[in-house]
Amino acid sequence: MQSEFKVKEVNSIEQPHIRAERQSQTLIEAFLVSGLLFMLLPGTFLGVWNLIGISRRQALAALSPAWLQAHGQAQVFGWVGSFILGIGFYSLTKMQSTRTFPVAKGWASWSLWNAGVTLRWLGGVTGWEWRRILPASGMLELVGFLLFFLTVRKHRPASGQSAKATWMVLVVLSTFVFLLTLVINSVALFRLAASGSTPALPHRLDLQIVTMALWGVLVPTISALNARWLPIFAGFDQPRPRWLLTAFGLSLVGIVLVFLNWWGASAVVFVASALAAIQGLRVWHRAVQPAKVHNIHPSFPRFLRIAYVWLMIASLLGCLAALEDHSGGLWGASRHALTVGFVAVMVFTIGQRVLPAFCGMRVLWSKELMFWSLALLNLGCLLRVSMEPMAYELDWQPAWRLLPVSAVIELTAVTLFALNLAGTLMQQPAHLRQVSDPISNADGVP
Ligand code: HEM
Repeated sequence: MQSEFKVKEVNSIEQPHIRAERQSQTLIEAFLVSGLLFMLLPGTFLGVWNLIGISRRQALAALSPAWLQAHGQAQVFGWVGSFILGIGFYSLTKMQSTRTFPVAKGWASWSLWNAGVTLRWLGGVTGWEWRRILPASGMLELVGFLLFFLTVRKHRPASGQSAKATWMVLVVLSTFVFLLTLVINSVALFRLAASGSTPALPHRLDLQIVTMALWGVLVPTISALNARWLPIFAGFDQPRPRWLLTAFGLSLVGIVLVFLNWWGASAVVFVASALAAIQGLRVWHRAVQPAKVHNIHPSFPRFLRIAYVWLMIASLLGCLAALEDHSGGLWGASRHALTVGFVAVMVFTIGQRVLPAFCGMRVLWSKELMFWSLALLNLGCLLRVSMEPMAYELDWQPAWRLLPVSAVIELTAVTLFALNLAGTLMQQPAHLRQVSDPISNADGVP
């Protein structure tokens, strides 16, 4: 009788948590699936199409700026932005400050965000009713993000997790910059609708917003999550808070300089920011424990380090571009060393480690696909980053012929990554599997 009472009591304590966990899992899966779709079609496929068009006409200026911007928006906000929102909502249940999950707000945010990113892409690519569609897209993205922001802000970390932990401070700061970026983006789109002549933002303003999104949101959010995850999963030494905060501060200085049009000075500051982040995360120091590579490919820690080599290449190429770029080749190479080399390689590496566990303690579908997606992504990126300046700046004919090859290699890599995550999501989550799963929270899933 007493034990029956106890079971009931335990159930009544556990059930809301379990329900919240499942609801957050479904939402993160929705953000992952929509993010993957943006990455594949509006993002990478359009990027490949653009690059083939540029290579055929042998000039960057030959392509519509609205198409270039549509591709960049789909990748940065549609893909990586969706992943960030999904992980943010999921982490609410881990904070344990509440037994219920904000289901309605989560799904409203998902719907508004996806509607906004989709409209932005359609407005840019088709040009149909763009004076209405583009400002509407900016507002939808902003409201979707605000819902996320206000929901996440209300929740406090569980006891034992300090709100002052460096990774959390960085997450909060980069979330503020994300919000500010969307406000600036929205104002820019309203002004474009009122006085522009095509559905493309003026080149300089577009680059300023893209730089803010990359150095103010994507790079620091990855640093923040890495400060939490790399010691657990890769066995790296504990992060150094001062270096990480310095890296973030320098990124902000770089962004201000970009808005003042001091591109050379900002490029130097971004190099310093990248070095500080690498030092803060102990990326190139000897690991203090073995990496946890159970169920994933053992090359995992190598690809993590390679991503930071790309971050350095990107920032150094940025300095060269500020001095020598005439036709967009050095800026393009620097941007893709950052977006494909650093951001995408990092998302592929750490994503295939943590996301299956977040989605119901699933196991990664294929270790081999993980390896090949990463190997091909790095190969495609290497070819792209080395050939782009040769083609755009020096008009070297073999480079024009190799650029589309790099695009197809990158497209293959992206498809393998999407396939591996889709295969993972199609497997049963742990609570429905018969046999006990070797993964557990003790394996370090935060
Ligand atoms: C995977 C294959 C990819 C291909 C083939 C590709 C292709 C291109 C091309 C041709 C451009 C025009 C400028 C230039 O020639 O450099 C461009 C711009 C850009 N790409 Fe990519 N890209 C790819 C992946 C990515 C990824 C993964 C991201 C972000 C996570 C990204 C973000 C951007 C951004 C932000 C721009 C600038 C857009 C603008 O001017 O507003 N790209 N890309």
